[in-house]
Amino acid sequence: MTDRDDVALVGFAELSATAVRARLLAAHDRFWDVDTRPLHHPVWFDQFGGFGALARSADGEDVGYVLGVVTADRLAYLHLLAVRDDRRRTGLGRRLVRWFDDLALATGARVVQAVTRPEDTAAVAFHTALGASAHLAPDRAGPGEDRLVLTRTLAR
Ligand SMILES: CC(C)(COP(=O)(O)OP(=O)(O)OC[C@H]1O[C@@H](n2cnc3c(N)ncnc32)[C@H](O)[C@@H]1OP(=O)(O)O)[C@@H](O)C(=O)NCCC(=O)NCCS
Repeated sequence: MTDRDDVALVGFAELSATAVRARLLAAHDRFWDVDTRPLHHPVWFDQFGGFGALARSADGEDVGYVLGVVTADRLAYLHLLAVRDDRRRTGLGRRLVRWFDDLALATGARVVQAVTRPEDTAAVAFHTALGASAHLAPDRAGPGEDRLVLTRTLAR
């Protein structure tokens, strides 16, 4: 089954951002292998929620989400992207990114960036498959905490 069979994407602007954030944090370990709770600051849901989308199954379950923002210099920053563990490799991550790309393009962005841990092979493979190039940013998240910055041109 592909995700399209039963999954709808809904912009956070149409949802109660506070309630969605609480649900996603409660289900955190279905979406993430490391603790990303501090990255789910309310500002990404309340102030920047207009750039985010939730993937919902036909029976109303949260199965994926994307959060991000477009900056004043037209850089689309993809802050968090996650697909629930039982829904991976069905094309849902790709679909969420396309949703974000379309909004970013409409907002004037021409480049999208995401940041990940170098050891997160799934995330690196995912972004590379979408055409991103990677460069290492040593100590980006603190001493000894290197990150990969993944950059991709947005095409119409
Ligand atoms: C990274 C993540 C969002 C990918 O979501 P997904 O829905 O499984 O991705 P898709 O099914 O759309 O995959 C698209 C392509 O990316 C690549 N890809 C995705 N996951 C991969 C993996 N684990 N290993 C290798 N390639 C992978 C493949 O080329 C895939 O195409 P294919 O399935 O036709 O081969 C998902 O693994 C996830 O939620 N991981 C935990 C959260 C996380 O680390 N997020 C960081 C994102 S910056």
